[in-house]
Amino acid sequence: MDLAEPRQLTRTAVAVAEGDGIGPEILAATMAVIDAAGARIDWEPIEVGEKVYRSGISSGIAPQSWEVLRRTGLLLKAPITTPQGGGYKSLNVTIRKTLGLYANVRPCVTYHPFVDTRHPGMDVVIVRENEEDLYAGIEHRQTDEVYQCLKLISRPGCERIVRYAFEYARVNGRRKVTCFTKDNIMKMTDGLFHKVFDEIGVQYPELEKEHRIVDIGAALLADDPTRFDVVVMPNLYGDILSDVAAQIAGSIGLAGSSNIGDHVAMFEAVHGSAPDIAGQDIANPSGLIQAAAMLLAHIGQGEIATRVQNAWLRTMEDGVHTADIAGPHTVQKVGTRAFAQAVIARLGRIPEKLKPVQFAAAQDKHAPAPIRAPSRKALVGVDVFLHWHEGKPDDLGAALNMVATGKLALKMITNRGVKVWPDGLPETLCTDHWRCRFMPADAVATISHADVVALLGTLAAAGFDFIKTEHLCSFDGVPGYSLGQGQ
Ligand code: NAI
Repeated sequence: MDLAEPRQLTRTAVAVAEGDGIGPEILAATMAVIDAAGARIDWEPIEVGEKVYRSGISSGIAPQSWEVLRRTGLLLKAPITTPQGGGYKSLNVTIRKTLGLYANVRPCVTYHPFVDTRHPGMDVVIVRENEEDLYAGIEHRQTDEVYQCLKLISRPGCERIVRYAFEYARVNGRRKVTCFTKDNIMKMTDGLFHKVFDEIGVQYPELEKEHRIVDIGAALLADDPTRFDVVVMPNLYGDILSDVAAQIAGSIGLAGSSNIGDHVAMFEAVHGSAPDIAGQDIANPSGLIQAAAMLLAHIGQGEIATRVQNAWLRTMEDGVHTADIAGPHTVQKVGTRAFAQAVIARLGRIPEKLKPVQFAAAQDKHAPAPIRAPSRKALVGVDVFLHWHEGKPDDLGAALNMVATGKLALKMITNRGVKVWPDGLPETLCTDHWRCRFMPADAVATISHADVVALLGTLAAAGFDFIKTEHLCSFDGVPGYSLGQGQ
């Protein structure tokens, strides 16, 4: 006789938001399924969405809900309706930014032949960096003709997304992690992402690793997604390619996704609140069921996630379908509630035609970024950007040389990144936006902020409209700036 104490299984508190439109129906169906599967979860309802927006809270989430979110650290969120008209902020963006949800994870899986697709074997997980890159929203109009958006990539940001992707692959029994960047062009920003991928990848010897330039990588992904497994990438590429991957999988309406941070994680269906079919018991709850399975795996209840997902797959292949996916393989067309009951009836069974899934029992992990000593940083020059439209590059070079007679001397002028002085070509299109690089006239001289300020004072006194500066620094002796094209 086994006298061992029964294992105490811990329960996890999870905030849950029923959302708008079809949200309440698909959430009820989802909760019914995962509760029946034995999920050890204590639900804590919070209110988000249309009602909250209309009560005058422009973020769509009430102040007391933040407390629940921060305490539980977990949110299962049904889709919400963002009211039309100005002033309402996207709830997803607010939650993602406020709580530091740095990883967006989107499995893109095909369910051939039950859902139409050109790529029957596709099973790709896109891990998208969620906070950095061009999404900081730092944009400026600098001249009549030129606008800029800052692309910011940080080492800790790269480290945590890349490590998350590798941990996800390891914990979920994946074989390969691919990194997409454009580091042949953006050598410093995307170059850092790639470098960190190589550095961290070494710690995962059991996983195959590859890097692809994002353009050819995207083409290969669209052509034959079966050559990819887990793909990690910076924000913009991930934004675009997670939609491409979901679309070619053919199952965008069935997909769940997660947004992961160090303290909070949010799980939701990819689709919206479908107000056109709300309240009719016809919505498909599959996207939210898949999101809930991801939540279970994330909190270490992988065996329950496996039960849910395999029962759902079995329901699909048994031909029990909601109206949105009904087709030649449908045996029984059902509504939202009946679909949930069909999944519940299949708990404990595995699919026979589709590939059964096996979520890991372990929790998805993310290691904290290591603390590093700061580098030895030295100021070696300055790029001064000018708004100027009074002539040709040589005229500007001559005018600047006339006034910049101090410690810093003009070395180069570029226009839209192309070197136009000295020795520019007449074919280069020049706008009214000039980057003028100044470095010490005496190559061995050291410079300080005071020298930069003195230069700017001289330029201002001579009537030049400088619109911004970028300091040129070396870090441990390595230049921290790019050269001009053609330099
Ligand atoms: P939608 O995804 O809600 O609907 C697009 C079409 O797909 C509609 O015909 C709808 O009936 C159908 N559909 C969507 N989910 C379905 C399901 N589970 N079962 C059966 N059919 C389904 O996108 P739409 O119409 O552009 O947006 C509606 C609202 O949802 C908007 O207020 C939008 O802001 C919001 N939305 C919210 C999201 C979220 O909370 N994460 C994401 C996307 C949109």
